[in-house]
Amino acid sequence: MTLRVITPPATLGMLGGGQLGRFTLMAARAMGYRTVVLDPDPGAPAGAVADEHLVAGYDDVTALDRMAVACDVVTTEFENPPALALDRLAGSTPVAPSPRAVAIAQDRRLEKAFLEDSGFPVAPFQVVDADSGLADVPAVVPVDHPSVLKTARLGYDGKGQREVGSITELHAAWAELGGVPCVLERALPLDAELSVVVARTADARVATYPVAENLHVNGILDLCVVPSWASAHVLDRAVGLGMAIADALDYVGVLAVEFFVVNGELIVNELAPRPHNSGHWTLDAARTSQFEQQVRAVCGLGLGATDLTAPAVAMVNLLGQLWDAGEPDWAVVLDHPRAKLHLYGKDQPRAGRKMGHLTVVGDSREEVETEAVRLRSMLSRG
Ligand SMILES: Nc1ncnc2c1ncn2[C@@H]1O[C@H](COP(=O)(O)OP(=O)(O)O)[C@@H](O)[C@H]1O
Ligand SMILES: [Mg+2]
Repeated sequence: MTLRVITPPATLGMLGGGQLGRFTLMAARAMGYRTVVLDPDPGAPAGAVADEHLVAGYDDVTALDRMAVACDVVTTEFENPPALALDRLAGSTPVAPSPRAVAIAQDRRLEKAFLEDSGFPVAPFQVVDADSGLADVPAVVPVDHPSVLKTARLGYDGKGQREVGSITELHAAWAELGGVPCVLERALPLDAELSVVVARTADARVATYPVAENLHVNGILDLCVVPSWASAHVLDRAVGLGMAIADALDYVGVLAVEFFVVNGELIVNELAPRPHNSGHWTLDAARTSQFEQQVRAVCGLGLGATDLTAPAVAMVNLLGQLWDAGEPDWAVVLDHPRAKLHLYGKDQPRAGRKMGHLTVVGDSREEVETEAVRLRSMLSRG
């Protein structure tokens, strides 16, 4: 990709209006950019902070063309914009990351094939779709071995996944998932889960953040701690893999790479072509947030420093069920000198929905983890 340097007060467009878009546009506005978001939901979190919110579907060509005219560069905050949307925009305005990179990250079949073909370590897997007929499945992933069936597209926060332990369960799970194209993957005994956020510019400058250690509950990120407990060797390798993957994709923007640690070895789980939940801590404990970095990367500016501004930071997600007994008691977080509260402005607190997060900085991993979890537990009135 050729480098275009886009400086304020140019206009940055965001496809998708969730919390990732919201934080990115807040960073862009702070720098003096104008901002436009396209999202069909009039209550989308990013809509409230954008100069202009185009309330239209991602396949609405009139809205897409309007966005292309209004914006000097367009980026995305979710991996599922229809190919048509990015291609249409890219026909007349710079789009970063590229439609190709997003297409790979939004389909587990393409993602796994890309990673495997490029020599990156992935879990043993097999495509399950109408063509495979399930007859020769599972050849690579034996059915007597616990496996995870994941829809190829549109899965997130553990949605669109089923654990299976036999051929009968596999058939049932595939039917339950609607018989759509899936990837069947070996269930791995995880020592830990890590992620690295990488930023890359069109002229191949790269910056990486300290690796985060992530704990998932029911497939949803629950807790994220930096620095990770993993060995220096594993952390160096995670950063190296992250940079190599960004290069292999000729990636422009912020890319998050999720890893499994299995028997001390790294396996690439998946790619997120956007800022990532496991990088939210950068708002409060990195020299440059992942959101400002996204603006810098897609606008071709210098990348900001990514070092930690505290010895340790922990982030916990605040999911909809925290609202079961009414609005949580925010005072406990707001009164805390080393905690920060971030709410996304969503008005429907459904169970499992990411409504906000909080971070705690401190002197040690153990301390910040304990304190973040303690603060969250004090929030619910129930
Ligand atoms: N093959 C696997 N072995 C063990 N745990 C897994 C496996 N695949 C997924 N998981 C668990 O489920 C979580 C969500 O899966 P992931 O593939 O990252 O999908 P999502 O797009 O929902 O984040 C992972 O972070 C991990 O905790
Ligand atoms: Mg994931």
